[in-house]
Amino acid sequence: MTIAPIAAIILAAGKGTRMKSSRHKVLHPVGGRPMVEHVMATLDTLNPARRVVVVGSERDQVEAQIGDRATFVVQEPQHGTGHAVQQAAPALADFAGDAAVLYGDVPLITADTLRRMIDARTHADLVVLGFRAADPAAYGRLKLSADGGLEAIVEFKDASPEERRINLCNSGIMVLSAKLLFDLLAHVKNDNAKGEYYLTDIVGLARARGLKAAVVETDESEVIGVNSRAELAQAEAIFQARARAAAMADGATLIAPETVYFSFDTKLGRDVVVEPNVVFGPGVSVGDNVVIHAFCHLEGASIAEGASVGPFARLRPGAELRKKAKVGNFVEVKKAVLEEGAKVNHLTYIGDARVGAGANVGAGTITCNYDGFFKYKTDIGAGAFIGSNTALVAPVTIGEGAIVGAGSTITKDVEADALVVTRSEQREIKDWAAKFRARSKAKKDGKK
Ligand code: UD1
Ligand code: MG
Repeated sequence: MTIAPIAAIILAAGKGTRMKSSRHKVLHPVGGRPMVEHVMATLDTLNPARRVVVVGSERDQVEAQIGDRATFVVQEPQHGTGHAVQQAAPALADFAGDAAVLYGDVPLITADTLRRMIDARTHADLVVLGFRAADPAAYGRLKLSADGGLEAIVEFKDASPEERRINLCNSGIMVLSAKLLFDLLAHVKNDNAKGEYYLTDIVGLARARGLKAAVVETDESEVIGVNSRAELAQAEAIFQARARAAAMADGATLIAPETVYFSFDTKLGRDVVVEPNVVFGPGVSVGDNVVIHAFCHLEGASIAEGASVGPFARLRPGAELRKKAKVGNFVEVKKAVLEEGAKVNHLTYIGDARVGAGANVGAGTITCNYDGFFKYKTDIGAGAFIGSNTALVAPVTIGEGAIVGAGSTITKDVEADALVVTRSEQREIKDWAAKFRARSKAKKDGKK
C-alpha cells in the first residue's frame, strides 16, 4: 500500500473566550506542554510533508510558539470551521497528497488513531474520526448509511429530535485528498442555524457526488476539546491517567498512581519506585532502580541508576544525581552534580555546585551561591565530609577528603584531607548556670 504524503491543517483561530485568559487557548499546557505542541508532537511520528496552522485571534502568540515549524494562514473574521480550513487552500494549492484536519485545542489525539484513519483512506474518499459520547450534548452527529458508511454529519443545532438521539459524534478530525477538500469547501454554504460555513457539510457534498465516506471510531477521551478551564482540567486528568498507565506498563511501581503527576517528557527506568504524592515537572529522567520517596517535586533533573530521592525533596533544573547518590528530606538541589554515592540527607540547599563521589554533606548545610547580583560555584571534592550547619560561601572549593567542622562558615578554599573549623573555641565555666539560677530566683522572689 502506498500512502499519500500528508499535509496537516491545524485550526487555532478561535478566541477561546471561555478560558478567560490573556494566553491563547492552544498555548495552555497539558502535562507541562502547550496543547498545540501535543498535536505537533503527534504529527512528528507521521512525518507530514506540510503543516499549516490557521490563526486568527492573538495570532502572534501562536506564531511565536510554533515559529518556522509551520506555515501560518489567517482567518479573520471567523465564519466557521469550513471557512477556517478554506484559508489553507492557497498554501496547499500545489499539494498533491492528503489533508488531515486537526485542532489546536484537541491535544490528546494519538498517532495510532491518525494512522488508522490514513489506513481507512484505502477504501474511502473521506475519513472522519467519530466517537460514542456518554453525553452527546451539542456535538455534530454522524449519520450512517445502511452499509455502515458515513452518509452525513448533522450539526446539533440543525438536527431533528431523531438525529439528536444518535450517540455517534463528530470529533471534527478528518482525512481526505487535499484537492477534494478544497473543491468541496468551495461549495459549502452558510444557510444553517449558526450562519457559518460548516466543514462537516463536505460529507453530504461528497456523498452527492457518489464518493465514499467512512468513520473511524475512537475513545471519547482522545478527542476531548478544551474550551474552558474545567475542560483543561479534564484533559489534564486524561493525560495523567495515560502517563501513569504507561509508566507502570514500562516497569515502574507507582504505589498510589492517582497521586503522581507526570510531564509530557518524563522518563522512568525499570524497577523505579515512585511513592505517593510526587510531581514530575518537565525535563526529568530517572534511571533504573531509583526510589522517589513520598512528596517530592522534581523538574529539569536527571537521576541515575540506584539513586534515592526524598521524602520531601525538591530537585530543580540542572540537578544531576549520579549512580547511588542520595538526596534526603527537606533538601533542595539546583544546577548541581552529585557524583556517584554522594549523600545529602537532611535540610540542605545545594545550588551551583559539584559534590564529589562519596562525599557526605551534613544536615543544614547551605551553599551560599548568590550575592544578590551574581551566582558562584561551590566545589566539594570526593570523599569530603561537610559537618552539619555549614555555610559554604561561594566561590569556594573543599578539597578531596577534607573535613569541615560543624557550624563553620567557609569563605576560603580548603586543601585536600585538611580539617577546617571556623567556629570560636568552646569555653566552659564551672557552676555558672547554677549560680545564675539562684541569683535570678532570689531577685524574682524579692519582688513579690
Ligand atoms: C465542531 C463540529 C462538530 C463537532 C465538534 C467537535 C463543525 C461545523 N462542527 O463544532 O460537528 O462535533 O466541533 O468538537 O465543524 N475554529 C476556527 N475558526 C472558525 C470556527 C472554529 O478556527 O471560524 C476552530 C475553533 O478554534 C476550534 C474548532 O475550530 O478549535 C472547532 O470549532 P467550534 O466552534 O468549537 O466548533 P463546534 O461548534 O464545537
Ligand atoms: Mg467546540
